[in-house]
Amino acid sequence: MSETAFSIRQLRAEDWVAFRALRLKALETVPTAFGASQEEDAALSPEALRERLERAPSAVFGAFAGDSLIGMAGFHAQLGAKRRHRGLLWGVFVEEAYRGRGCARRLVERVILHAGEHVVVLEAGVTAGNRNAAALYESLGFRISGLIQKALRIDGAFHDEILLALDLEERASPSRG
Ligand SMILES: CC(C)(COP(=O)(O)OP(=O)(O)OC[C@H]1O[C@@H](n2cnc3c(N)ncnc32)[C@H](O)[C@@H]1OP(=O)(O)O)[C@@H](O)C(=O)NCCC(=O)NCCS
Repeated sequence: MSETAFSIRQLRAEDWVAFRALRLKALETVPTAFGASQEEDAALSPEALRERLERAPSAVFGAFAGDSLIGMAGFHAQLGAKRRHRGLLWGVFVEEAYRGRGCARRLVERVILHAGEHVVVLEAGVTAGNRNAAALYESLGFRISGLIQKALRIDGAFHDEILLALDLEERASPSRG
């Protein structure tokens, strides 16, 4: 399948069933990649899931192969006067069978485009050792900004989290400076 076989669009409240299924698959199959646990997200009500998809300017983007949702990437805008220039890239996941074909790159590019309309800095966290995700984000301009030691504890084991940030103002006018 070629890159162009995927279509990318923002998920809406009515996509909550497919969103839930993909999100739970992500949390179950790659628990170390995400801050939430599968049990926590499985307990979310349909209303909470619908709200998560319609909380502008926060947004979730989905990749579709035909009618099937096979990938996703989320954008969460921070709240409060002093923090609302910052946003978070979260929940990046592509079904195993569709990996290595540029799907996540297109999803994250879509989040960056959306984030540029709402925030100045886009942040991301990557569990130490997740080189694929770190390589993707760095190739799109993210730079390492910090490290949280023992950020996650999963089945008793601690995992550090690498923080990355993309300065969207700098990206829009790279010569400034
Ligand atoms: C990380 C993940 C989202 C990448 O999805 P993908 O659709 O396969 O990624 P793409 O095909 O768009 O690749 C984009 C870039 O990611 C990096 N990458 C992806 N897979 C890689 C691999 N197996 N080895 C090395 N780099 C890889 C590369 O930089 C690649 O760029 P390139 O194609 O120019 O070399 C996917 O592997 C996944 O869902 N992993 C489990 C969940 C996860 O780790 N999410 C990230 C949480 S921070």
